[in-house]
Amino acid sequence: MISEAELLERIPTGLHIDGRWREAANGGRFDVTDPATELLLARVADASPEDGAAALDAAARAQRDWERTAPRERAEILRRAFDLVTARADEFALAMTLEMGKPLAEARGEVAYGAEFLRWFSEEAPRVAGRYATAPDGRNRLLVVKRPVGPCLFITPWNFPLAMATRKIAPAIAAGCTMVLKPAALTPLTALLLTQVLEEAGLPAGVLNVIPTTRAGAVTGPLIKDSRLRKLSFTGSTEVGRRLIADSADQVLKVSMELGGNAPFLVFEDADIDAAVEGAVLAKMRNGGEACVAANRFLVHESVAEEFSEAFTARMAAFHPARGTDPASTIGPMVDAATRDKIVSLVDGAVEDGARIALGGSALPGPGYFYRPTVLVDVPADARILDEEIFGPVAPITTFRDEEQAIRLANATPFGLVCFAYTRDLDRALRLAEDLETGMLGINAGVVSNPAAPFGGVKQSGLGREGGIEGIEEYLETRYVGIADPTRKD
Ligand code: SIN
Repeated sequence: MISEAELLERIPTGLHIDGRWREAANGGRFDVTDPATELLLARVADASPEDGAAALDAAARAQRDWERTAPRERAEILRRAFDLVTARADEFALAMTLEMGKPLAEARGEVAYGAEFLRWFSEEAPRVAGRYATAPDGRNRLLVVKRPVGPCLFITPWNFPLAMATRKIAPAIAAGCTMVLKPAALTPLTALLLTQVLEEAGLPAGVLNVIPTTRAGAVTGPLIKDSRLRKLSFTGSTEVGRRLIADSADQVLKVSMELGGNAPFLVFEDADIDAAVEGAVLAKMRNGGEACVAANRFLVHESVAEEFSEAFTARMAAFHPARGTDPASTIGPMVDAATRDKIVSLVDGAVEDGARIALGGSALPGPGYFYRPTVLVDVPADARILDEEIFGPVAPITTFRDEEQAIRLANATPFGLVCFAYTRDLDRALRLAEDLETGMLGINAGVVSNPAAPFGGVKQSGLGREGGIEGIEEYLETRYVGIADPTRKD
């Protein structure tokens, strides 16, 4: 296993523009710190608006050659990148643990998940197809072809620093698009390591340009208004996504938005309670709860609420908060003080609203931004915590009387990313699949994320899908060519 010092020595800390590592135009750098210790890890070049413009210039220049590169060649670059990320899994895992906080075992899981997008889209690249048909009146031939959208801007979050980048970069490479990536300022190191790997895999200069920055709006704003940009893909909060959609209207950009969630976790009276508890632990505690697909509200049938809550609380009590590099750690720190403080205020508010703390309920003393795994019971249906995305290890449990009420409560949110439901009744599972307002549904499953499946939400959880055979469509446009049939004389 590589040491922390060796890894930090190996990760490039410059901007990557037009195939070259370089300093920011104004020479600025910013600090990247470890959320478990609050100590400095690295100083990364801080892109200015001038650097953003240079990155888009490079992407726009590279677009024509890149889209003409054979699909097989693009596929092979992705496949080599998959092999390299897999071979360097320890480095990627440690980078994520250091800058984001998740335990090493969990970070290794993200390496496998994130790398899989590279392999999946390497397999999709040569399969982009159009069609050829005869018009119904027989006069014309109809040729339908798929074309790459063109230069893209990606804005990625800190919670899955590898997977959220590969989920955008891989389909763009497969489709023949060039790109500018702005990774989260809290976690740029993983993205920079990935850039190094893609370069080593043979990605030509200008195809991927990476500009970490602390001035997100000032750097990306002008790019979104630039007519050469054709696509914006963002993962983050609904609040920011809404603003980006509005900004994208000027150039009528194609947008993909993977936004906030408020996932209900439903446990019906006929559920296998042991399985529901295991699923609940996964749905809540994957990534320390810092996921937009994290279960945010536990809705449990009143007849099994006590049994479920007791068993679930016992499982939550077994989590061990510690720095992610500690082999005993099963939950790391929250990513920063603001994230931890928001959780503190949500839990305090829930208690004011009438919830009872069954476990946890407070932050741990520093250094580091740790919050105790927490279970809240008897949470009133109108408690504020049920309307907010918690983004931490806090599980509010509330009850329902019957299926109709469960569905009504589950849908009573402007979000619609994912729902989880535990039931042994197949008819009920099918009714839920039809009646829940959601982009994704886990039936007796606490995790649905899979590179081979279309990830995304409805309502204010977003637009578009990432992963699956749908994922590449976000980077393609449909062109129709009508061809007169020269053999017809009428
Ligand atoms: C997210 O939380 O933004 C994504 C989580 C996932 O891909 O499972």
